Amino acid sequence: MPLRLKDIQAPINTEMGEFEIKFRSFMKSKVFLLDKIMDYIVKRKGKQMRPMFVFLSAGVVGTISERTYRGASLIELLHTASLVHDDVVDDSNYRRNFFSINALWKNKIAVLVGDFLLSRGLLLSVDNGDFDLLKIVSEAVREMSEGELLQMAKARNLDITEEVYYEVIRQKTASLIASCCAVGAAASGATEDDINRMKEFGLNVGMAFQIKDDLFDYGVEEIGKPLGIDIKEKKMTLPLIYALQKADSSKRRHIIRLIKNKSDQPGKVREVIDFVKSSGGIEYAKGVMQSYFNKAQELLQLFPASDYRTSLGELVTYTIERTR
Ligand code: IPE
Ligand code: IPE
Ligand code: MG
Ligand code: MG
Repeated sequence: MPLRLKDIQAPINTEMGEFEIKFRSFMKSKVFLLDKIMDYIVKRKGKQMRPMFVFLSAGVVGTISERTYRGASLIELLHTASLVHDDVVDDSNYRRNFFSINALWKNKIAVLVGDFLLSRGLLLSVDNGDFDLLKIVSEAVREMSEGELLQMAKARNLDITEEVYYEVIRQKTASLIASCCAVGAAASGATEDDINRMKEFGLNVGMAFQIKDDLFDYGVEEIGKPLGIDIKEKKMTLPLIYALQKADSSKRRHIIRLIKNKSDQPGKVREVIDFVKSSGGIEYAKGVMQSYFNKAQELLQLFPASDYRTSLGELVTYTIERTR
C-alpha cells in the first residue's frame, strides 16, 4: 500500500494541528484584499512536507517547543512566497490543483503577496529573537534565487550539463529542505554537529525531491500543476540532459532545434518526450534519485532510533514515491 502523509504524520499529529492554527494567525493582515488572498492560500494548502521535516527533525534530536513552531512557520511562509513568485516567473496559471494567485489576481498583486509573505516570515523571527533560525533560512532563500537565475541563464542557450543541473536543484530546492532539517535541530537546541548532520541529510532528501518533481513532467498523472511544461519553458532537466548527452551529434542538434524553436507545438514537445523515454533518460534519473535517497537514509541512521526517526525515514520514502 502506498505511504500516506497522514500516517507518516502520526508522532506529530497534535503539532501539525497546532501548526495550522498558528500559521494562519501569522498570515493575518488588516488589509481586506490581502487577508482574502491569505484565506485562499490557506484553503488551498500544499502537502506541508517542509513543516513535517522541521517537526520530525526537532523530535529526532531534542524536544519540540514554541521555537519549533516558529521555525516551521518561517519556512512555510517563505516556501509559499517563493511559489507565488515562481508562478509569476514561470507564467503558470495552476498550483495545488487550482488557479495560481497570478491567474486570479494578476502579476502585480501576486508579486506584492509574495513580498508580504516574506516580510511576515522575517518579522516572526526578528520579533522573537530567533536569529539563528533566520540565518539558516535566509541563506537558503538567497540560494533559491541564485538557483532560479542560474536555471534561467542556462535556459537561454540550452547548454546545461549534468553538473550544472545538480547545482541548480541543490540551490533552488534542496537548500530549503536542508534548512527545514537544520532549523528543526537548531530550534531544539541541538549541537552544531547535529545541526550540520541534519542539514546534510536534508540536502540529499531535497535533491531526490526535485528529481522526482522533474520526472513528473514526463508522467501522465494529474499532480495539480501543468505537465510537459518544463520542455515548453526550455527548462532542461536530468532525463533530457542525459538523453542529449548520449545522442549522436545530428540527433542532438535536431532535438535542441525542436526545444529552441518549436516547443510551443504539442507534437514537437511529444517528440522530445519520446526521445527522452527511448534513450533511457527516465531510468537514469530514477537511478540518480535512488542514490540520493540511499544517502539520506544512511545519514538518518546516525541519529538515535525513535518514532520520530522512523517517520522521518518514511517521509523520505514518500518524497520519491509521491504522486503529487
Ligand atoms: C513545490 O514544492 C516546489 C518545488 C520545490 C518543486 P511542493 O511540491 O512541496 O509544494 P506544495 O507546498 O506541496 O504545494
Ligand atoms: C519550484 O521551481 C520553485 C522553487 C523551487 C522556488 P519549479 O518552477 O521548477 O517548480 P514548480 O513545478 O513550478 O513547482
Ligand atoms: Mg514553476
Ligand atoms: Mg520556476
